[in-house]
Amino acid sequence: MYRSLLTLTLLTACTDAGNECVTPQGCGEGLLCVQNRCVGSEVEGDPRALYEAEFALRLDAECGVCHFAGAYEIPVGGGDGRYRLHSGVGLSAAQLEENWNDLQDFVRPGDPVNSLLLTYGRGEASIDPERDGRATPHPAVYGTVENLSYARVLNWLSLFPAAQLPDLGLPPPPSDASAPTMPGDPPPPPPPSAEETYLSGIHGVLARGCACHTSPARAWAISAAASADVASFQATRAWITPAAPDQSPLLQYARGELGHSAGAVWAPGEPEYELVLRWIATVQ
Ligand code: HEC
Repeated sequence: MYRSLLTLTLLTACTDAGNECVTPQGCGEGLLCVQNRCVGSEVEGDPRALYEAEFALRLDAECGVCHFAGAYEIPVGGGDGRYRLHSGVGLSAAQLEENWNDLQDFVRPGDPVNSLLLTYGRGEASIDPERDGRATPHPAVYGTVENLSYARVLNWLSLFPAAQLPDLGLPPPPSDASAPTMPGDPPPPPPPSAEETYLSGIHGVLARGCACHTSPARAWAISAAASADVASFQATRAWITPAAPDQSPLLQYARGELGHSAGAVWAPGEPEYELVLRWIATVQ
């Protein structure tokens, strides 16, 4: 009952606009009723404004039944690796902001399909094996990719501006050694230490890409994106093999191997993967 009320609110959120439709059936095949207008899967505009206009309620209707604030005593907030939202209509601006911040952990700007929000939404990840030792599949809320709501969420996620990866001054991979130095050239500056580059950039890349691991419940647990610390560097060092970087358990899990419950997060060749690979080679 509550769910259907929420859905109805999503459909009729803006009753003084031209009333093209009120119910989903009012639009015909291939169209959805959003704010009384019949729309397809295309989404345009500013992602934050669209969140307020449509996607906060859409995600609440589709995910809020399990991910509401306080479920398993977990609050809404960014950086804890858990997905929670304040549920219901008439949220305050502060609650919407908290929902938005929490959501960022599961969005992968520049690669919407592989955003954790959708990896879980499609049922490709397992829920919390650390909690009970079982890897129960996450419900496939979006069933098929033909699902129009899924298509709208996907297109909305594609509007998030991609973040630039940090330039950490890491040595180039041995295969693209630069031009030989000439006699009289000043010696190159010593490269920064692996701990320094972890703190100045790698931590942020890991905490965003692997946000579930900013929860202390994980076997590999690091602090939130904004708070790089030496303890996180040490926790990460336990999962890497500098002598054979691509054999590091960290990257094996990232590739979806070793039974990683979130599936494949990065494939070889992707910028984040290659950056972390090069960084691993610098760890003493
Ligand atoms: C029937 C219940 C249910 C529904 C519906 C559901 N989830 Fe989940 N989801 C879970 C459970 C249980 C977990 C395990 C951890 C937890 O409680 O947060 C989880 C975990 C996740 C995680 C990993 C982060 C975390 O909190 O551990 C993400 C991301 C996620 N879900 C996204 C979604 C999205 C997006 C939707 C809607 C499209 C959705 N879920 C709908 C039950 C659900």
